[in-house]
Amino acid sequence: MSESTARVAIVTGAARGIGAATALRLAADGLAVAVVDLDEGSTAATVQAVQAAGGRALGVGADVGDAEQVQAAVDRVAAELGPPVVLVNNAGVTRDNMLFKMTDADWDLVMHVHLRGSFLMTRACQRFMVEVGWGRVVNLSSTSALGNRGQANYATAKAGLQGFTKTLALELGKFGVTANAIAPGFIQTEMTRATAERIGRDWEEYVAERAAAIPVARAGVPEDIAHTVSFLVSEGAGFVSGQVVYVAGGPRT
Ligand SMILES: NC(=O)c1ccc[n+]([C@@H]2O[C@H](COP(=O)([O-])OP(=O)(O)OC[C@H]3O[C@@H](n4cnc5c(N)ncnc54)[C@H](O)[C@@H]3O)[C@@H](O)[C@H]2O)c1
Repeated sequence: MSESTARVAIVTGAARGIGAATALRLAADGLAVAVVDLDEGSTAATVQAVQAAGGRALGVGADVGDAEQVQAAVDRVAAELGPPVVLVNNAGVTRDNMLFKMTDADWDLVMHVHLRGSFLMTRACQRFMVEVGWGRVVNLSSTSALGNRGQANYATAKAGLQGFTKTLALELGKFGVTANAIAPGFIQTEMTRATAERIGRDWEEYVAERAAAIPVARAGVPEDIAHTVSFLVSEGAGFVSGQVVYVAGGPRT
């Protein structure tokens, strides 16, 4: 049994996209993985994919922005898989609009999922990490943290997550816990497909146009992010903490 076999990871928003790829990758790395998403039924495909590849997974339904649901989810993971010592705060939503058209609900939902969600999940999981003196937290930020038209809510939340990450690193470092953020650029998922649809763009054309502006001349895929998560939660990354890793195919253009 390798050292990491006994470790348990929680990946939020893992029913699809970057979260699903991350759950698969961490399972391949030898971790048991809790696949958390809004509705337990939606986690079935990821759980089955992990199991089909020989890994161990548990699907759990929870809204990460709801304190009671978060506590119940984390308690269930601890009881059924073991103490979660790796947490990937990946769950996310967009409610894009220019500021003058952005509603209170658009603002609140984005804060609820990204900021409140990451706060509640991390607060609930940190005690398991502190108890064993080892832990890894990875928060999903975005290149949008640097500012992006039509995303006043999302850019604010993603910048906020960078401050949250650095503070976690300061508070939890002495307990063997690292905290880092990944800021992806353009990644092909349902989230970016929905954006293309909302602005009336053909998906293939939209991807090609975005890829043309990326130095490595391609759009990102969920596995690009999963690979970086895998590194940050690895044993060897224990001296990397409080960092924001831009995974965007180059510096921002
Ligand atoms: N796709 C990109 O280009 C891109 C770029 C930068 C950052 N990100 C970030 O990466 C993360 C994953 O993005 P994705 O593209 O895979 O998105 P996605 O929309 O494909 O998947 C997000 C998942 O989060 C889940 N979710 C939403 N609200 C939730 C809640 N309250 N509780 C639990 N689960 C919830 C959704 O059900 C969904 O399964 C997000 O945080 C996103 O903001 C994505």
